[in-house]
Amino acid sequence: MYIWFMEKILITGGAGYIGSHTAIALVNAGYQPIIIDDFSNSNTSVLKGLHEILGREVHCYTGDCNDSGIMSKVFMEHQLAGVIHFAAYKAVGESVAHPIKYYKNNVGSLLVLLETMKEFGVKNLVFSSSCTVYGQPEKLPVKEDSPRKPAESPYGNTKKICEDILNDVTRSALGLRMISLRYFNPIGAHNSAKIGELPLGVPANLVPFVTQTGAGIRERLTVYGDDYDTPDGTCIRDYIHVMDLADAHVKSIDYLKDKPDNFMDLFNVGTGQGNTVMEVIKAFEKVSAKTLNFQIGPRRPGDVEKVWADTSKITAKLNWQPKFNLEDALRDSWRWQLALADK
Ligand code: WQD
Repeated sequence: MYIWFMEKILITGGAGYIGSHTAIALVNAGYQPIIIDDFSNSNTSVLKGLHEILGREVHCYTGDCNDSGIMSKVFMEHQLAGVIHFAAYKAVGESVAHPIKYYKNNVGSLLVLLETMKEFGVKNLVFSSSCTVYGQPEKLPVKEDSPRKPAESPYGNTKKICEDILNDVTRSALGLRMISLRYFNPIGAHNSAKIGELPLGVPANLVPFVTQTGAGIRERLTVYGDDYDTPDGTCIRDYIHVMDLADAHVKSIDYLKDKPDNFMDLFNVGTGQGNTVMEVIKAFEKVSAKTLNFQIGPRRPGDVEKVWADTSKITAKLNWQPKFNLEDALRDSWRWQLALADK
């Protein structure tokens, strides 16, 4: 495969959890990924992992997507076929404490990116959104035309605001073609165990906390509430393998290629299957052969009770299906946790 013949896709935040896995999926599909990342929520070990998996370097710029100078430099140095925009802060709790930081970075970086795309005539954009825009849906599984709810956090609100910006940009006939992907709960890791979700501080999300508890890094997992209206009283989420999520981004880039200017669409990206916290714990114990130490604690403010995706639209329009199930993802998360212990 000749590198200079491969179409280049810019991945903002490409050294992050989902971005790095998407870099692999892009190469597997014959694209050349170009990464820009400020490494505020990642580190350069990810680039080493990508090199080991791919057998070659992925070109990475260290920089802030809010910096129009570095963004113009990237667009000047590469003829880009499209952009996948991951770069954003994503810690729900932190966003409540530091809203200005979240609005400035998450909304600001999208505005700089859109201006730069227009300036350099790059039309195709895939935006990283979240099922958090639905809040607690009235009907389940949740469809893309379900009403968006008032955000529970500044983080969630930045995703809604960014989707509104994409809609307005489409109406303004700026000439772009865009897709917003509403992620459910990304978990798992590449099966090489050379990249995965990096543990920076105490994990807020369930699965990294589970694997760190299994590895003895955390004393015990606290299950946030078992008095919900669900089969076992614990919350339900749609946990999707990060490689399935990565594949949805590649199929989105392919899908945009023959679309007219000023095109906008959005898709749920989940498995279509909901699992409770207790089911995650049981599945982890099965794949790890470990007994997980956990206790039941109080509900976590802001948690929705149950949400899982209707995936019929992405299947019909992008011909995308998840390949992995909950056990596959937890097995890969666990292998990644064990590999981290050896680093
Ligand atoms: C899952 C379930 C918790 C930790 C968030 C963001 C979402 C996206 C993914 C960025 C819930 C329970 C968790 C723990 C627990 N982020 N839990 N003990 O809250 O569904 O989604 O992360 O894109 O936008 O909102 O994911 O993994 O934090 O929680 O019982 O120690 O696990 O109550 O029911 P969440 P999560």
